[in-house]
Amino acid sequence: MRTIVAGNWKMNKDRAEALALVSKLVGWSEELEGDVEVVIAPPFPFLEMAVQCTRGTRIKVAAQNCHAVAQGAYTGEVSVLMLKSLGVTHCIVGHSERRQYFGETDTQVAEKMKTLLFHGLTPIYCCGEVLSERESGKFFHVVEEQLREALGGLSEEELAGCIVAYEPVWAIGTGRTASAEQAQEMHAFIRAYLSERGAPEVPILYGGSCKPDNAASLFACADVNGGLIGGAALDAGQFTELVHIAHRVKQDA
Ligand code: PGA
Repeated sequence: MRTIVAGNWKMNKDRAEALALVSKLVGWSEELEGDVEVVIAPPFPFLEMAVQCTRGTRIKVAAQNCHAVAQGAYTGEVSVLMLKSLGVTHCIVGHSERRQYFGETDTQVAEKMKTLLFHGLTPIYCCGEVLSERESGKFFHVVEEQLREALGGLSEEELAGCIVAYEPVWAIGTGRTASAEQAQEMHAFIRAYLSERGAPEVPILYGGSCKPDNAASLFACADVNGGLIGGAALDAGQFTELVHIAHRVKQDA
């Protein structure tokens, strides 16, 4: 099974800060052992710089969003073809902040995923329940609906080209993380769906207040194949530490 640590920078950093962070990560990536895949998702204006700086290293560059249509009159949007022409290899889709603040639906997410896959980019598809859904015990149902709507139209081959991230919304940026048991049971549930669809090897990342001090127990779960990291990805030391932890934990497993 592959192990991936991906950093979602969200709407943070100016150009100088972004350059400093990428440069540190590139420097430290040379010392990384093992084969953990490392992905960073800076904001759009810094993608080209990030691709150039990481060329020849193990670090891959993701966008945080894209439009479903390849090109056209969509003021303010960024297309998959633009990302591809920069050398961007991955794209986060369906992040809970996009669902919450920009009204993004699973139908739109499904269209974006189709376009990304058609052009050879890897979607990092985010799913997860909000706090009220966790508390009312509906979380399996909610995630199952999300998976069916967003991934249901993909072929087996397309699905195999995706990464899934389980991000309980109540754990994002809150400092409150899912327990290893809560993460594993949901990851096993997602794995069962993917297996049923013929793509059991799709990596499933955990996201939500994942930090160096809680990552080991999360990454140790059988169906957790790494993490999608927000806050801790803004600090080169913490993010690199998370890559080391993923390598160590998976090597011991
Ligand atoms: P967080 O964000 O690590 O800051 O909770 C995770 C994410 O939103 O991807």
